[in-house]
Amino acid sequence: MTATVLIPAAGMGRRMGSSINKQYLHLAGRPILAHTLALFDSSPHISRILVISPADEVDYCRREIVAAFGFAKVAAVIAGGVERQDSVRNGLRHLGDDAQGVVLVHDGVRPFFPARLIPRVIELAAEAGGCVVGVPVKDTVKEVVDGRILATPERVRLWLAQTPQAFPGLLLRAAHEQALAEGFRGTDDASLVERLGRAPVMLEGSYRNIKITTPEDLLLAQAFLSAKEDP
Ligand code: C5P
Repeated sequence: MTATVLIPAAGMGRRMGSSINKQYLHLAGRPILAHTLALFDSSPHISRILVISPADEVDYCRREIVAAFGFAKVAAVIAGGVERQDSVRNGLRHLGDDAQGVVLVHDGVRPFFPARLIPRVIELAAEAGGCVVGVPVKDTVKEVVDGRILATPERVRLWLAQTPQAFPGLLLRAAHEQALAEGFRGTDDASLVERLGRAPVMLEGSYRNIKITTPEDLLLAQAFLSAKEDP
């Protein structure tokens, strides 16, 4: 079974405090987005990649990333939207009826996802109707409102949701269109599918699969690169 992957990479990277978009910052001489695309382009389980870029950087992304690194599975680079959810929806609309089969969504700024998990993610998405890669939280999590702790959820039940998140494509598209119609804004794709009464499965991934968002994340990323495998 092979699948399609959508790579949202249309964020502006304000938290990085850099003039260049975070997905184009270099790690070991290559832009972060090129590291991420390489994971999927070289996987026999992925048939097609769609990259979602800021509208004014679509040409740059085609030229400097897709063509420059020869990513053969990238079928298109399309323009994203205001928020991540809008960007993913644009990707799903672009796929149209080609959204059949499993669709993975993976952040352009997560270059350390262990590619060996790709076939398992696809399999679970098809079997269970959805699969989210994540890790158990290590710290205790507090719910805080106006500086006051309101609750301490039981830690053994808490996981951090990363990407990829994968679903039957038509289900994911329906979840996104319904969220738009009802004005729901989620912080990940699974939350939109959960609203439809589905319960995607959680697959344990890696603590290294960080989203490179702030300058501290870049330091961590450099450390991960110099120590190749998961310990
Ligand atoms: O904004 P955040 O750090 O959560 O971004 C996660 C991923 O979503 C990044 O790869 C970013 O480029 C992407 N994104 C997007 N469209 C937006 C905002 C973020 O594709 N409007």
